[in-house]
Amino acid sequence: MQERNLALELVRVTEAASIACARSMGQGKPDYSDQLAVNAMRAAFDNLHIDGTVVIGEGERDEAPMLFIGEKVGRRRDGDPKMDIALDPLEGTNLCAYGRHGALSVIAMAPEGCFLNAPDIYMNKVAAGPAGKGVIDITTTPTQNLANLAERKGANIDDLTAIILDRPRHEEIIREVRGAGARIRLIEDGDVDAAIATCKSDSGIDILFGIGGAPEGVLAAAALQCLGGDIQGQLMFYDDSDRQRAYEVMGEDADIEAVLTREDLAHGEVLFAATGVTSGGMLDGVRFSAGGCRTHSIVMRSKSGTVRFIEAIHNFEQKPHYTHDGYHEKMERI
Ligand code: FBP
Repeated sequence: MQERNLALELVRVTEAASIACARSMGQGKPDYSDQLAVNAMRAAFDNLHIDGTVVIGEGERDEAPMLFIGEKVGRRRDGDPKMDIALDPLEGTNLCAYGRHGALSVIAMAPEGCFLNAPDIYMNKVAAGPAGKGVIDITTTPTQNLANLAERKGANIDDLTAIILDRPRHEEIIREVRGAGARIRLIEDGDVDAAIATCKSDSGIDILFGIGGAPEGVLAAAALQCLGGDIQGQLMFYDDSDRQRAYEVMGEDADIEAVLTREDLAHGEVLFAATGVTSGGMLDGVRFSAGGCRTHSIVMRSKSGTVRFIEAIHNFEQKPHYTHDGYHEKMERI
């Protein structure tokens, strides 16, 4: 019997979340957009034949009514595979709420224990595509990383483009990268999409630098594991509560200052699915038309290295729960 490819089932869950929140694109209501994605993703999980546990999710049980860390998802029947799940129903909440490029719905899945239990704090990251494997080093400077990557690619530093979240905390990195001569793409949000872009040969992006969410670091590592890219991260502690949070989540004996490699963040047989909410460098956003919509997704698994782009046409007559009214029946406006 042919092996089951769970990633192909997973994409139905990211599609459902994307379709739901794409309805709210540009309405300027980040919480509302996020809630639409969460509700739809949670409902879609019920159709998946897995015994899943959310390990990277919407937060703790008391702050997140759904898809909280530790929540069990999937049909959870006898024989269903036990899987850990890292998810972000709407990665780039503001991108969707303000109608900007690059919002995604994302899920990574792997056997139990394969994802780092990352605290919801910041992480410094450097990521690159396959050419950067074994070359990137978060303990050295951006200039040195650029020089090493340029050498590996047989290029000059000024041929490279770095992608960086546009944040005041990145002033120093930006100054250094400019000084080194590389080009820079500044983005408003979405460093999972940005990390994936380093692996796409026609994206024009070579390396990602900067501080973003630690949970997003795990999701990016899962994607890069499938794509053969590389990422390193280091947790950032701005005060004692960040340290305390890290120990709570990672265990009292954890080395919370350690350099986290791609394998530390995500290892084993990783499955990854993402569906575009708004159009970005990798995926088109949801396009609605009378009676239906089109979605564009990426589906990958590390075992085979196969990367699939799936364009799906959804017919709302057969999927009434996907319609605007269908969602609104189920939730109150925030
Ligand atoms: P959300 O979808 O949770 O809003 O995250 C968007 C994002 O840009 C991530 O991609 C990134 O890791 C993080 O926020 C950066 O955090 P901050 O906006 O606080 O700088």
